[in-house]
Amino acid sequence: MRISVIGCGYLGAVHAAAMAELGHDVVGVDIDAAKVSMLAAGKAPFFEPRLPEVLASALASGRLTFSTDLAAVHGASIHFVAVGTPQSKDSYAADLTYVDAAIEGLLPFLSEGDLVVGKSTVPVGTAERLSAVLAQSGTGASLAWNPEFLREGFAVKDTVEPDRLVYGVGDAADVAKLDEVYAQALAAGTPRIVTDYATAELVKVAANAFLATKISFINAMAEIAEVTGADVTALADAIGHDARIGRRFLNAGVGFGGGCLPKDIRAFTARAEELGRGESVAFLKEVDAINMRRRDRVAELAVQALDGAVLGKKVAVLGVTFKPHSDDVRDSPALDVAVKLKGLGADVVVTDPEGLDNARTRHPQLLYTQMTEEALRHADLAVLVTEWPEYVELDPVHVAEIVRGRHIIDARNVLDPAAWKAAGWDYTGLGRA
Ligand code: UDX
Repeated sequence: MRISVIGCGYLGAVHAAAMAELGHDVVGVDIDAAKVSMLAAGKAPFFEPRLPEVLASALASGRLTFSTDLAAVHGASIHFVAVGTPQSKDSYAADLTYVDAAIEGLLPFLSEGDLVVGKSTVPVGTAERLSAVLAQSGTGASLAWNPEFLREGFAVKDTVEPDRLVYGVGDAADVAKLDEVYAQALAAGTPRIVTDYATAELVKVAANAFLATKISFINAMAEIAEVTGADVTALADAIGHDARIGRRFLNAGVGFGGGCLPKDIRAFTARAEELGRGESVAFLKEVDAINMRRRDRVAELAVQALDGAVLGKKVAVLGVTFKPHSDDVRDSPALDVAVKLKGLGADVVVTDPEGLDNARTRHPQLLYTQMTEEALRHADLAVLVTEWPEYVELDPVHVAEIVRGRHIIDARNVLDPAAWKAAGWDYTGLGRA
């Protein structure tokens, strides 16, 4: 099939490359010329495992091209809209400027039978409104909403082999078109849910709201564990054995961040309030508040570990991205903790395998090093905030020899407390006795 993808950010770039890899002819369009020339040269503008290989093979096959000119979509019959829906400047609501501009921009190039497919995460009701725009345009094109559930770090896999496909359609005839796009995944048995626009839009925000709630639930238990001497990791293991609960996404720690969960729960709250149903998701404000408290708690534990004398103490912050296997520092708990500690007067040295450039752009006042040992050398305190494998696998005996103070805060509960204590460390986990 001939496909266009409007917006080549995280979602769009991966989607374009993956669709070409599946055998479709794809053009990716973005207004950012630098991004387009990078992608056209086979370079991913962000760190994502497997993406460079998939880009290279799709470009070499001739099935993938990129352009800054929307006219390049000419000839395609399926147009994915994968532009950003960031948090608005003055409220928690999603900013739909880019989605609206993409639809308006596409109109001159649409023809009878074309299908515009929304992938961006949008407030419920958006697809209905955009479908009316298409209907009034007289182009003969229709709209489907097909939310994306990819995780950073697994984006290519999640796109090629999704857990499920959700089609929100206004016209049943469009289902066959989407089936053709996703023929390989469907042949492999991927479940497919065909529904209306509103449900498809809500599936995405409901999934993210549930995941965020699950994380904040276990972090709330960590708060209780901290005042009772209980151990939240044992608690998570025990409740996670109940198949109705499940152990995944029950890792207590410094909480969630990234470009999706925080912004999506806030936008959902804002939309529910607009709809007069704010009370239905009022709990998401608590989810957000619990999450943000965890960052303060890590800073508080750091102050305690340094006996209140933070000024001029060297603190090694291990990890700055919002999760491992990503270079993304958007709403990163790790970066937030580093900034808080710096604000308290510590000499903060941040290390991370992939996230330093992005972190430096946002917070040039912090010190950065790519070398884990350099960050740890003569440190008075180490704080593990992002669970990159190289930090999880640190040898406590060796690290003990290079630091000044043997105190580690494990803000992801990924280290073995017994091994660190045996090597002479004061170990502090989150919600662990
Ligand atoms: C998320 C959703 O998982 C994905 O389906 C959606 O499409 C986009 O948003 P992503 O932002 O890539 O994906 O990250 P995810 O792996 O979900 O992790 C989100 C955050 O939660 C990270 O900061 C992670 O460290 C944190 N987290 C995750 C926890 O604190 N505890 C857990 O148990 C799991």
